[in-house]
Amino acid sequence: MFSLKGQTAIVTGGASGIGLATVEMLSQLDANVVIADLNVDLASEAVRRLTGEGRSVAFIHTDVAVADEVNALVQGTLEKFDSLEILMHFAGIGLEQHALDTTPENWDRIIAVNLTGSFLMMQAAGRVMVDKGYGRIVAMSSMAGVRGGTGRTAYGASKGGVSAMMRVMSMEWARRGVTVNALTPGGIETALVKKMHDEETRRAYLAGIPMERYGTPEEVAAAAVYLALPQSSYITGVTLPVDGGFDASGVIKQN
Ligand SMILES: NC(=O)c1ccc[n+]([C@@H]2O[C@H](COP(=O)([O-])OP(=O)(O)OC[C@H]3O[C@@H](n4cnc5c(N)ncnc54)[C@H](O)[C@@H]3O)[C@@H](O)[C@H]2O)c1
Repeated sequence: MFSLKGQTAIVTGGASGIGLATVEMLSQLDANVVIADLNVDLASEAVRRLTGEGRSVAFIHTDVAVADEVNALVQGTLEKFDSLEILMHFAGIGLEQHALDTTPENWDRIIAVNLTGSFLMMQAAGRVMVDKGYGRIVAMSSMAGVRGGTGRTAYGASKGGVSAMMRVMSMEWARRGVTVNALTPGGIETALVKKMHDEETRRAYLAGIPMERYGTPEEVAAAAVYLALPQSSYITGVTLPVDGGFDASGVIKQN
């Protein structure tokens, strides 16, 4: 019942973590997939492995914070696969730093990649999709953009901005066949979290997660693919938590 045959997806950040798991799932549903990432080694390895399994996967080296590279990515995707129906915009960087320690340089770097990068990618893909009258955009926010965890001044602001922008685009394109949604994952075991969460952060986070564990990249990929299906045509403007119950939780007694 669920197939993406004949459709093309761009997955930014597709070389690693949540993005890579999403690339695998999309290609299992027979979509053509373009990995857009900075990490040449990881992306090339994924393309080698997946094309070896008969999947239709390509890599276009892209810095999502640079407008010319984003436009070249969309152009290159259209040249290679002839269409663009799905954008999974997952490229992002993390930072755990208290408000008083956050330097203007760190602030600018996080906002440039996570927020400006989202604007550039969603606008460039949105242009093609609005023109065609069909599209599915899944943006990457975070629980850090919803809740007030410590050490997330720049990161939380960038992700809260992604959710706000997603809602505006979803309104502007609601009658044009293009749905725009965002994921707000909690703690997911990836390279980013290994760098961003020290042992103390982990302990504090786990204490607030009703499922008492971090999630896997595959659990986020499944939510992303669900939002990208043709059948998910009546869902737009939504931020979907993938967080083991963290956002819904209140006082929890064990018995
Ligand atoms: N892991 C989590 O707990 C978690 C939680 C909430 C949100 N997120 C978000 O999910 C997304 C994916 O994160 P992940 O955990 O899979 O991390 P990851 O580090 O495994 O993957 C991120 C990928 O983005 C790429 N990237 C970074 N900057 C880029 C740029 N300027 N242009 C192109 N590619 C770039 C990296 O090379 C990497 O391959 C990020 O936006 C992150 O903020 C992650």
